[in-house]
Amino acid sequence: MAVLIDGKKLAERICAEVAREAAKLPRKPCLAAILVGDDPASEIYVRNKERDCLKCGIDSRRFDLPAGTAQEELLSLIDKLNRDGAVDGILVQLPLPEHIDESAVIDAISPDKDIDAFHPLNVGKMITGEPTLWPCTPAGIMEMFREYGISLDGKKCVMVGRSNIVGRPMGLLMLRENGTVIYCHRRTPDLAEMTRQADILVVAAGSPGLITGDMIKPGAVVIDVAMNRDPDTGKFFGDVCFDEVEKKASFITPVPGGVGPMTRAMLMKNILTAAKISLKQM
Ligand code: GUN
Repeated sequence: MAVLIDGKKLAERICAEVAREAAKLPRKPCLAAILVGDDPASEIYVRNKERDCLKCGIDSRRFDLPAGTAQEELLSLIDKLNRDGAVDGILVQLPLPEHIDESAVIDAISPDKDIDAFHPLNVGKMITGEPTLWPCTPAGIMEMFREYGISLDGKKCVMVGRSNIVGRPMGLLMLRENGTVIYCHRRTPDLAEMTRQADILVVAAGSPGLITGDMIKPGAVVIDVAMNRDPDTGKFFGDVCFDEVEKKASFITPVPGGVGPMTRAMLMKNILTAAKISLKQM
Protein backbone atom coordinates (compact mmCIF):
# COMPACT_ATOMS: atom_id res chain seq x y z
CA MET A 1 0.00 0.00 0.00
CA ALA A 2 1.37 3.38 -1.02
CA VAL A 3 2.23 6.21 1.35
CA LEU A 4 -0.25 9.05 0.88
CA ILE A 5 1.44 12.37 0.05
CA ASP A 6 -0.49 14.88 2.16
CA GLY A 7 -0.47 18.05 0.06
CA LYS A 8 -2.98 19.77 2.29
CA LYS A 9 -0.85 19.45 5.41
CA LEU A 10 2.36 20.49 3.65
CA ALA A 11 0.58 23.44 2.00
CA GLU A 12 -0.68 24.62 5.41
CA ARG A 13 2.88 24.56 6.74
CA ILE A 14 4.17 26.51 3.73
CA CYS A 15 1.41 29.11 4.10
CA ALA A 16 2.25 29.53 7.79
CA GLU A 17 5.92 30.06 6.85
CA VAL A 18 4.91 32.60 4.19
CA ALA A 19 2.80 34.47 6.78
CA ARG A 20 5.74 34.55 9.22
CA GLU A 21 8.12 35.84 6.53
CA ALA A 22 5.60 38.35 5.18
CA ALA A 23 5.16 39.83 8.65
CA LYS A 24 8.89 40.68 8.76
CA LEU A 25 8.74 42.88 5.66
CA PRO A 26 8.42 46.70 5.87
CA ARG A 27 5.03 46.43 4.16
CA LYS A 28 2.64 43.63 3.24
CA PRO A 29 3.26 41.87 -0.08
CA CYS A 30 0.50 42.61 -2.58
CA LEU A 31 -1.17 40.60 -5.33
CA ALA A 32 -3.20 42.15 -8.15
CA ALA A 33 -5.62 39.55 -9.54
CA ILE A 34 -7.42 40.24 -12.81
CA LEU A 35 -10.50 38.31 -13.87
CA VAL A 36 -11.97 38.96 -17.31
CA GLY A 37 -15.52 37.72 -17.84
CA ASP A 38 -17.71 35.64 -15.54
CA ASP A 39 -16.59 32.03 -15.94
CA PRO A 40 -17.82 30.41 -12.69
CA ALA A 41 -14.75 28.16 -12.25
CA SER A 42 -12.35 31.08 -12.75
CA GLU A 43 -14.39 33.12 -10.31
CA ILE A 44 -13.94 30.39 -7.65
CA TYR A 45 -10.19 30.13 -8.36
CA VAL A 46 -9.70 33.88 -7.96
CA ARG A 47 -11.79 33.97 -4.79
CA ASN A 48 -9.68 31.14 -3.34
CA LYS A 49 -6.50 33.04 -4.16
CA GLU A 50 -7.86 36.10 -2.35
CA ARG A 51 -8.64 33.91 0.68
CA ASP A 52 -5.16 32.40 0.60
CA CYS A 53 -3.65 35.90 0.53
CA LEU A 54 -5.66 36.90 3.57
CA LYS A 55 -4.44 33.80 5.44
CA CYS A 56 -0.82 34.48 4.49
CA GLY A 57 -0.73 38.18 5.43
CA ILE A 58 -0.69 39.26 1.78
CA ASP A 59 -2.81 42.14 0.46
CA SER A 60 -4.88 41.44 -2.61
CA ARG A 61 -6.47 43.80 -5.09
CA ARG A 62 -9.03 42.36 -7.42
CA PHE A 63 -9.96 43.69 -10.85
CA ASP A 64 -13.14 42.28 -12.42
CA LEU A 65 -13.44 43.23 -16.06
CA PRO A 66 -16.45 42.46 -18.27
CA ALA A 67 -16.15 39.64 -20.85
CA GLY A 68 -16.23 42.18 -23.69
CA THR A 69 -13.20 44.14 -22.42
CA ALA A 70 -10.91 45.18 -25.28
CA GLN A 71 -7.41 43.73 -25.26
CA GLU A 72 -5.95 47.27 -25.22
CA GLU A 73 -7.85 48.04 -22.04
CA LEU A 74 -6.49 44.92 -20.31
CA LEU A 75 -2.96 45.72 -21.49
CA SER A 76 -3.29 49.26 -20.19
CA LEU A 77 -4.38 47.98 -16.74
CA ILE A 78 -1.38 45.61 -16.70
CA ASP A 79 0.90 48.51 -17.65
CA LYS A 80 -0.46 50.57 -14.76
CA LEU A 81 0.06 47.67 -12.31
CA ASN A 82 3.58 47.05 -13.68
CA ARG A 83 4.47 50.62 -12.73
CA ASP A 84 2.75 50.52 -9.31
CA GLY A 85 5.50 50.06 -6.71
CA ALA A 86 3.01 48.73 -4.14
CA VAL A 87 2.04 45.74 -6.34
CA ASP A 88 4.40 42.75 -6.19
CA GLY A 89 2.55 40.16 -8.25
CA ILE A 90 0.13 40.35 -11.18
CA LEU A 91 -2.10 37.39 -11.97
CA VAL A 92 -4.38 37.34 -14.99
CA GLN A 93 -6.71 34.38 -14.55
CA LEU A 94 -6.75 32.08 -17.60
CA PRO A 95 -8.46 31.23 -19.85
CA LEU A 96 -9.22 34.64 -21.34
CA PRO A 97 -12.16 35.38 -23.67
CA GLU A 98 -11.41 34.32 -27.24
CA HIS A 99 -10.92 37.82 -28.66
CA ILE A 100 -7.95 38.42 -26.34
CA ASP A 101 -4.50 37.12 -27.32
CA GLU A 102 -3.26 35.20 -24.27
CA SER A 103 0.42 35.42 -25.29
CA ALA A 104 0.23 39.19 -25.71
CA VAL A 105 -1.20 39.47 -22.19
CA ILE A 106 1.40 37.18 -20.61
CA ASP A 107 4.20 39.04 -22.43
CA ALA A 108 2.89 42.36 -21.08
CA ILE A 109 3.30 41.38 -17.41
CA SER A 110 6.59 42.59 -15.98
CA PRO A 111 8.76 39.46 -15.49
CA ASP A 112 9.48 40.65 -11.90
CA LYS A 113 5.75 40.54 -11.11
CA ASP A 114 5.02 37.36 -13.06
CA ILE A 115 4.14 35.20 -10.05
CA ASP A 116 2.58 32.52 -12.32
CA ALA A 117 6.00 32.28 -14.06
CA PHE A 118 4.36 32.15 -17.48
CA HIS A 119 6.42 35.00 -19.06
CA PRO A 120 8.83 33.74 -21.77
CA LEU A 121 11.77 35.36 -19.95
CA ASN A 122 11.03 33.37 -16.79
CA VAL A 123 10.38 30.20 -18.80
CA GLY A 124 13.76 30.70 -20.50
CA LYS A 125 15.52 31.20 -17.16
CA MET A 126 13.93 28.03 -15.84
CA ILE A 127 15.23 26.09 -18.86
CA THR A 128 18.79 27.38 -18.47
CA GLY A 129 18.76 27.04 -14.67
CA GLU A 130 19.03 30.75 -13.82
CA PRO A 131 17.31 31.75 -10.58
CA THR A 132 13.70 32.70 -11.29
CA LEU A 133 10.15 32.13 -10.11
CA TRP A 134 8.83 28.66 -11.01
CA PRO A 135 5.27 27.89 -12.13
CA CYS A 136 3.20 26.99 -9.09
CA THR A 137 2.05 23.43 -9.81
CA PRO A 138 5.46 22.04 -10.84
CA ALA A 139 7.10 23.95 -7.97
CA GLY A 140 4.58 22.42 -5.54
CA ILE A 141 5.27 18.90 -6.81
CA MET A 142 9.05 19.41 -6.43
CA GLU A 143 8.37 20.54 -2.85
CA MET A 144 6.43 17.30 -2.24
CA PHE A 145 9.35 15.21 -3.54
CA ARG A 146 11.70 17.05 -1.18
CA GLU A 147 9.41 16.69 1.82
CA TYR A 148 8.93 12.95 1.33
CA GLY A 149 12.61 12.26 0.58
CA ILE A 150 11.92 11.20 -3.01
CA SER A 151 15.08 11.57 -5.12
CA LEU A 152 14.81 11.92 -8.91
CA ASP A 153 18.50 11.35 -9.52
CA GLY A 154 18.93 8.67 -12.18
CA LYS A 155 15.21 7.86 -12.09
CA LYS A 156 13.00 7.36 -15.09
CA CYS A 157 10.39 10.16 -14.90
CA VAL A 158 7.35 9.98 -17.14
CA MET A 159 5.30 13.15 -17.63
CA VAL A 160 1.81 12.61 -19.08
CA GLY A 161 0.62 15.95 -20.50
CA ARG A 162 2.51 18.79 -22.16
CA SER A 163 0.65 21.98 -21.22
CA ASN A 164 2.61 25.21 -20.75
CA ILE A 165 1.27 25.51 -17.20
CA VAL A 166 2.09 22.02 -15.90
CA GLY A 167 3.51 19.31 -18.19
CA ARG A 168 6.33 21.11 -20.00
CA PRO A 169 7.79 22.94 -16.98
CA MET A 170 7.35 19.86 -14.76
CA GLY A 171 9.49 17.79 -17.13
CA LEU A 172 12.18 20.49 -17.09
CA LEU A 173 12.30 20.63 -13.30
CA MET A 174 12.61 16.82 -13.11
CA LEU A 175 15.46 17.04 -15.62
CA ARG A 176 17.17 19.63 -13.39
CA GLU A 177 17.13 17.06 -10.60
CA ASN A 178 18.84 14.53 -12.91
CA GLY A 179 15.76 12.54 -13.84
CA THR A 180 15.57 10.90 -17.27
CA VAL A 181 12.38 12.47 -18.58
CA ILE A 182 9.91 11.09 -21.10
CA TYR A 183 6.99 13.27 -22.22
CA CYS A 184 3.76 11.50 -23.18
CA HIS A 185 0.75 13.14 -24.80
CA ARG A 186 -2.28 12.49 -27.01
CA ARG A 187 -0.12 11.29 -29.92
CA THR A 188 1.95 8.84 -27.85
CA PRO A 189 1.15 5.49 -29.52
CA ASP A 190 1.35 3.17 -26.48
CA LEU A 191 0.94 5.14 -23.26
CA ALA A 192 0.96 2.04 -21.02
CA GLU A 193 4.31 0.92 -22.42
CA MET A 194 5.78 4.27 -21.28
CA THR A 195 4.06 4.55 -17.90
CA ARG A 196 5.12 0.99 -16.95
CA GLN A 197 8.74 2.14 -17.13
CA ALA A 198 8.20 5.08 -14.78
CA ASP A 199 9.89 5.28 -11.38
CA ILE A 200 8.19 8.67 -11.10
CA LEU A 201 4.88 9.19 -12.92
CA VAL A 202 3.29 12.64 -13.09
CA VAL A 203 -0.13 12.80 -14.75
CA ALA A 204 -1.73 16.05 -15.94
CA ALA A 205 -3.94 15.00 -18.83
CA GLY A 206 -7.42 15.95 -17.58
CA SER A 207 -8.66 12.54 -18.66
CA PRO A 208 -10.52 10.76 -15.85
CA GLY A 209 -9.45 7.16 -15.24
CA LEU A 210 -6.61 7.34 -17.79
CA ILE A 211 -4.08 5.60 -15.55
CA THR A 212 -5.07 2.12 -14.37
CA GLY A 213 -3.27 -0.28 -12.04
CA ASP A 214 -1.79 -2.37 -14.87
CA MET A 215 0.03 0.74 -16.18
CA ILE A 216 2.14 1.13 -13.02
CA LYS A 217 5.57 -0.29 -12.20
CA PRO A 218 5.55 -1.75 -8.67
CA GLY A 219 7.03 0.83 -6.26
CA ALA A 220 6.49 3.83 -8.56
CA VAL A 221 5.78 7.33 -7.21
CA VAL A 222 2.48 8.55 -8.72
CA ILE A 223 1.50 12.23 -8.80
CA ASP A 224 -2.01 13.05 -10.02
CA VAL A 225 -2.36 16.70 -11.02
CA ALA A 226 -5.85 16.49 -12.52
CA MET A 227 -8.99 17.98 -10.98
CA ASN A 228 -11.91 16.44 -12.86
CA ARG A 229 -15.34 17.30 -11.55
CA ASP A 230 -18.20 14.83 -11.68
CA PRO A 231 -21.09 16.93 -13.06
CA ASP A 232 -23.68 14.86 -11.14
CA THR A 233 -22.12 14.69 -7.67
CA GLY A 234 -19.86 17.77 -7.90
CA LYS A 235 -17.04 15.64 -6.48
CA PHE A 236 -13.45 16.00 -7.70
CA PHE A 237 -11.30 13.13 -8.89
CA GLY A 238 -8.06 12.71 -10.80
CA ASP A 239 -6.71 10.97 -13.90
CA VAL A 240 -5.43 8.04 -11.83
CA CYS A 241 -7.64 5.11 -10.75
CA PHE A 242 -6.66 5.62 -7.13
CA ASP A 243 -7.90 2.33 -5.64
CA GLU A 244 -6.01 0.19 -8.16
CA VAL A 245 -2.85 2.28 -8.31
CA GLU A 246 -2.32 2.77 -4.58
CA LYS A 247 -1.89 -1.01 -4.24
CA LYS A 248 1.20 -0.92 -6.50
CA ALA A 249 2.73 2.51 -5.93
CA SER A 250 5.20 3.46 -3.17
CA PHE A 251 3.84 7.02 -2.90
CA ILE A 252 0.64 8.54 -4.29
CA THR A 253 -1.15 11.90 -4.14
CA PRO A 254 -4.87 12.01 -3.38
CA VAL A 255 -7.39 14.12 -5.32
CA PRO A 256 -8.48 16.38 -3.74
CA GLY A 257 -5.88 17.20 -1.05
CA GLY A 258 -2.74 16.45 -3.05
CA VAL A 259 -1.32 18.74 -5.72
CA GLY A 260 -4.14 21.34 -5.62
CA PRO A 261 -3.37 22.85 -2.21
CA MET A 262 0.36 22.86 -3.07
CA THR A 263 -0.27 24.90 -6.23
CA ARG A 264 -2.09 27.48 -4.13
CA ALA A 265 0.64 27.54 -1.48
CA MET A 266 3.39 28.01 -4.07
CA LEU A 267 1.55 31.01 -5.50
CA MET A 268 1.71 32.60 -2.05
CA LYS A 269 5.41 31.75 -1.85
CA ASN A 270 6.03 33.32 -5.28
CA ILE A 271 4.26 36.54 -4.22
CA LEU A 272 6.41 36.64 -1.08
CA THR A 273 9.58 36.10 -3.14
CA ALA A 274 8.61 38.84 -5.62
CA ALA A 275 7.93 41.20 -2.69
CA LYS A 276 11.24 40.38 -1.01
CA ILE A 277 13.13 41.08 -4.25
CA SER A 278 11.21 44.32 -4.81
CA LEU A 279 11.86 45.43 -1.21
CA LYS A 280 15.53 44.36 -1.45
CA GLN A 281 15.10 41.89 1.43
CA MET A 282 16.89 39.04 -0.35
N1 GUN B 1 -6.01 29.06 -14.95
C1 GUN B 1 -5.84 27.78 -14.57
N2 GUN B 1 -4.70 27.65 -13.86
C2 GUN B 1 -4.14 28.88 -13.78
C3 GUN B 1 -2.97 29.39 -13.17
O1 GUN B 1 -2.18 28.68 -12.55
N3 GUN B 1 -2.76 30.72 -13.32
C4 GUN B 1 -3.59 31.53 -14.01
N4 GUN B 1 -3.27 32.81 -14.12
N5 GUN B 1 -4.70 31.08 -14.60
C5 GUN B 1 -4.96 29.77 -14.48
